[in-house]
This record gives sequence, C-alpha cells and structure tokens, in this order.
Amino acid sequence: MYGSLAGAAVAATLMSRVSAQALSVADINTVTQRLAESAQQSWELGTRAQSLLDLYIPNFSVFSSTGLPPPSSVPSNTTSAIAPVFSIARNVVSALKLNTTSGPTALVNGDGAAGDPASLGVAVLLANWTGQGSGDGLDFAKAAQNQLEYTLNVVPRTSDGAISHRAAQVQLWSDSVFMVPPFLAYYGVLTGNTTLMNEAYNQIKLYRNYLRDTSAKNLWKHIVLGTDAQDSPNDEGHWSTGNGWAAAGMLRVIATMKNSPYSKTFSSQQKDLASWVKEIHTAMFANIDSTNIFTNYADEPISSSMFYDTASTAFIASTVYRAALLLDDHSHLPNAEKCRQALFAPSNSSSKSALVRRAGSSSAPSPSGSADHSSSGSSGSPSSTAPLASPSATTAPLSGLLHFTDDGWLTPVVNPHQFGVEGQNSPEGEGFVLELQAAYNEWVAEGSPGKNAARENRAGGGMGCRMCCGWRPFDICLMGMFKKVKDEYPRIRNDLATIDLRRLPSFICMGHYCTNYCTNCNL
Ligand SMILES: *[C@@H]1O[C@H](CO)[C@@H](O)[C@H](O)[C@H]1NC(C)=O
Ligand SMILES: *[C@@H]1O[C@H](CO)[C@@H](O)[C@H](O)[C@H]1NC(C)=O
Ligand SMILES: *[C@@H]1O[C@H](CO)[C@@H](O)[C@H](O)[C@H]1NC(C)=O
Ligand SMILES: *[C@@H]1O[C@H](CO)[C@@H](O)[C@H](O)[C@H]1NC(C)=O
Ligand SMILES: *[C@@H]1O[C@H](CO)[C@@H](O)[C@H](O)[C@H]1NC(C)=O
Ligand SMILES: *[C@@H]1O[C@H](CO)[C@@H](O)[C@H](O)[C@H]1NC(C)=O
Repeated sequence: MYGSLAGAAVAATLMSRVSAQALSVADINTVTQRLAESAQQSWELGTRAQSLLDLYIPNFSVFSSTGLPPPSSVPSNTTSAIAPVFSIARNVVSALKLNTTSGPTALVNGDGAAGDPASLGVAVLLANWTGQGSGDGLDFAKAAQNQLEYTLNVVPRTSDGAISHRAAQVQLWSDSVFMVPPFLAYYGVLTGNTTLMNEAYNQIKLYRNYLRDTSAKNLWKHIVLGTDAQDSPNDEGHWSTGNGWAAAGMLRVIATMKNSPYSKTFSSQQKDLASWVKEIHTAMFANIDSTNIFTNYADEPISSSMFYDTASTAFIASTVYRAALLLDDHSHLPNAEKCRQALFAPSNSSSKSALVRRAGSSSAPSPSGSADHSSSGSSGSPSSTAPLASPSATTAPLSGLLHFTDDGWLTPVVNPHQFGVEGQNSPEGEGFVLELQAAYNEWVAEGSPGKNAARENRAGGGMGCRMCCGWRPFDICLMGMFKKVKDEYPRIRNDLATIDLRRLPSFICMGHYCTNYCTNCNL
C-alpha cells in the first residue's frame, strides 16, 4: 500500500507532464477551420466529412456505439454540427445535375482517380438516409447508386477482381482501401445488402495480396501494377500515409460491420481485418526512430530526400486508439501514446531546429515563445481535450507547439499532392489530427484501457488497465473517478484514490489520469 502511494506520487508527476501534451478545444477548432478552408480534392472532402462525423457527431459516425444504421433524423441540437457534412454532400450532388437518364458515374471528377470519389459516398448516403433530399430536391440516393454502379461495373479490375484505383489503367493504390471499401460496407448496411458488405472485405483481401510486402516485414507498398506511367507511375516504396489509409480503411469496415445488425454474419471477416490492422501497426512501429515521428516512407531513414512526416504519424496513431476501442487490442498503445506526445509536444527551439535540420528543410516558422501549451489555451484545465465544440467556432492561434504552425498547420508534412516531396499545409493532415483527437477522446472516456499494455504484457496479464497476473495490482485514479463496471454512476470519487483490484475487481478508473501500478506480491 505504501509502495503504491509512492507510486502515485511518481504517477502524478508523470501524468502532469504528459497532460501538457494535448490540444485544447480552441486548438482543435483552429485545425477544423484550416481543414474546412483547404479541403478541395475528392478524397480530402471525403476525409473531411468523415473526420467531422467522428469527432463532432459521433452518433452519426460508423464508430458510433449507438449502432448502425444511424438515426434517420437529426436531433435539433445536432443540426448545426452536422451541417458542414451535408453541405459537402449537397455541393457534390447538385454539381452532378442528375436527370432520369443519368447512369453509372463518379460523384465528382477524380482527376484520373476512380477510387477517391467513392470516399464522398458515406456523406451522400447519410444525407439520403436522414432525408436531406426532401428539403433541397436533390436525389442523394440516385447519386450514391450511380457511384456504386460506376465502382462495381465501370472501373477496370485485376483478373481476380481487385477494383483499380485509376480509371484509365489497372493500378492498385493503398489509398483505395480507405476510399472504396468503407463506402461499399456502409451502402450495404443502409440497404440491407450483405453482398456489398462482403465485397468491402473481399476488396481489402485482394488489395492486401498485392500490396503487402513480406520482404519488408509486411509494410504495404504504395502503388503497384500500373502499365501507363504517363497516367500515373508505380511507387513500390512503403509510403507511411498509405499504410495509414489501409489501416484506417480496414477499421472503418470493421466498425461498419460490428455496429450493424449483421455483425455475427461477418465475424470471421472482422477477425481477418483486425489481424491485418495489427500487422500494419507491427510493421510500422518496427521502423519508427527515437523522435516518434514516422519518416515519409516508413523504412527509409532521414536523408537528403527523406523527411519526417507528422501527418502519417497522426494518422497511424489514430488507428491504434481505434483498434484499442474496437478490438480490445492494446499492444501498440504505448507506441501511439509516444507519437501523440511527440506530435503535441511544446515547442523547444533547440529540438525544433534539430528536427527541421534533420528533415532537410529550413522553411518551418518558429512559434514564438516556449510557454507551456496547456496554460495558453482558454480552457485552463490541464485535463481538457478537444470534444464537442462547434466546428464553426471562431479560431484562435496555436502557440508554443513544436509540430504546429501558429495558424494551426501540422508540420513537417508530406505534400499530399506529390507524395515523395515535403510540403506545407496538408488538408488531409488536418483531417488526421481530428481523427486522432476523436479516437483519443473516446479512449480516454473509456478510462484509457491498456495504457500500460507493454508493462502488463511483460507481467503476463495484458488485460488493459485492470490486471497484472502474478503481481499485486493497484489502480490509481488521479483527478478521475472509479466507476463500477456495468454501472452508469461513480461509486467512489476521489482526487487521488487507489484501489486494490483484488478486493474490488469490478471497478475501473474513468477519466484522464488512469494508470496502473503493479507491486510484486512477494515483497
Ligand atoms: C446519441 O444517441 C443516444 C441514443 O439514441 C442518445 O441517448 C444520446 O443523447 C445521443 N448523443 C448525442 C450527443 O446526441
Ligand atoms: C442533444 O440532446 C440529447 C438529449 O436529447 C443529449 O443527450 C445530447 O447530449 C445533446 N447533444 C448535444 C451536442 O448537445
Ligand atoms: C442527362 O444527363 C446526361 C449526363 O449528364 C446528359 O448527357 C444528358 O444530356 C441529360 N439529359 C437531359 C434530358 O437533360
Ligand atoms: C435512401 O434512404 C432511404 C430511407 O430514407 C432508404 O430506404 C434507401 O435504401 C436509401 N438509399 C440508399 C441508396 O441508401
Ligand atoms: C446488392 O447490391 C448489388 C450491387 O448493386 C446488387 O447486384 C444486388 O442485387 C444487391 N442484392 C440485394 C439482395 O439487393
Ligand atoms: C530542448 O530539447 C533539447 C534536445 O531535445 C534538450 O536537450 C533541451 O534540454 C530542451 N530544452 C528545454 C528547455 O526543454
């Protein structure tokens, strides 16, 4: 017991340092605003729509614990939060100028990409499902159906059926796993068509066969099979963002299946997909260096042509929190926590210049000052993370963050329109920050399960925050509360409490500061 109190003091110190490394509500609003201003390409708009749902309107996200299909009407207190999502769908569908003779066609001009426009399909399907068409006379269902028929019947395929990412040639991109299968699965759930749900799985399986590189310990290649380099060259490198698209697309499909009435029918598919997500996490984290930021191509170290990429780092980390929530897989949580802390680290001018120098760039602006970030936000409380603020709230400058410019751009990042080159102002990168925040918030709200997975695994337990086999477990709940499992209400509320889990096995820690201490029984 005394040992655990000493441990609590250590934990308090550790936790307060860690808690500084979070974005405030104002910060997240600024990132949301940058995304709104910059997203223009088909996949950027699709990513934006889905990240807004995941962060601000979780009841209408595929990750919703309230289940799929989503509610068929939008509660009045949600109308303004969801408006930007519907306005994306409305802009897309009104530009199509559908008429009775229109047939299979992509939702937008994909600039040669057949896969990217499908990422908008989820927003369009949701607009139909919630009856938006009756107000503005747009046929969202027809637009979605035309996109589906285009994807299934017009886009070229490999001989074994993988749907090309490009329209003019058969070429598979890891990006496509995020763009197409989640649309197929969502379409399937909303129309009760399990064939489509299975096709989402089948496409991912085919893509994995072509893109997983067993000679690179299962990292995914970026682009293969193309025969027309004028249309678009192949890229056999292991693009970090591409591994993120693959893992994130798979998690969306798992969630769509799991939260639907057909979850049992697709249990083996969910199991496969879960193991493929984990395979990517294992492959990626084997390559990360001590900065805890991925390089643009995960297994290529920094060089004159290779740079650090915070966008893929945010994306991959977001998928680790999602995997923890959806799959109870906590094995890579310690890695994701390190990434998140590195991404949201306070500015330190000497380490910033070190990173920039190693990234081969001299253009990153230096945020003024080196103030502790948590004290500069409007929130004040160190435990605040960004949650249900309005996406259209006024924005404030970010300051004192190592990996964000003052106006809220993640940095350094790959140029999302030229994937071998460092860029500035990545719209998808801003979307990945929102995805990271959404998944992280949900994980924290569940009591940060598995935060100490590495240590628990070493002790032979591996049951998240709750168990250490052969060790004497104490949970320490700082500024949080203990909550009885399967019970809505806190039974014990304490600023600093410890509980011997052997005596009270049905309590878990809720809140920001859950940690777990194991003391050896023999001591
Ligand atoms: C989400 O849906 C649940 C169940 O319908 C409801 O109780 C809850 O209030 C909703 N949450 C929000 C934020 O609207
Ligand atoms: C909307 O109202 C529901 C109750 O109907 C409530 O549970 C939910 O938290 C509210 N959502 C927001 C975003 O205020
Ligand atoms: C219907 O739309 C198609 C495709 O946009 C167009 O080619 C055709 O002229 C339109 N037909 C009518 C009657 O407007
Ligand atoms: C459109 O929404 C209606 C319910 O409002 C649903 O019956 C129909 O299946 C939906 N169509 C598509 C393509 O999702
Ligand atoms: C499911 O969707 C596919 C593709 O649109 C279609 O061919 C098939 O008939 C649908 N199945 C059912 C049961 O509606
Ligand atoms: C800044 O970072 C460098 C290198 O990571 C470290 O040595 C130094 O102590 C840091 N300075 C402050 C004020 O934290």
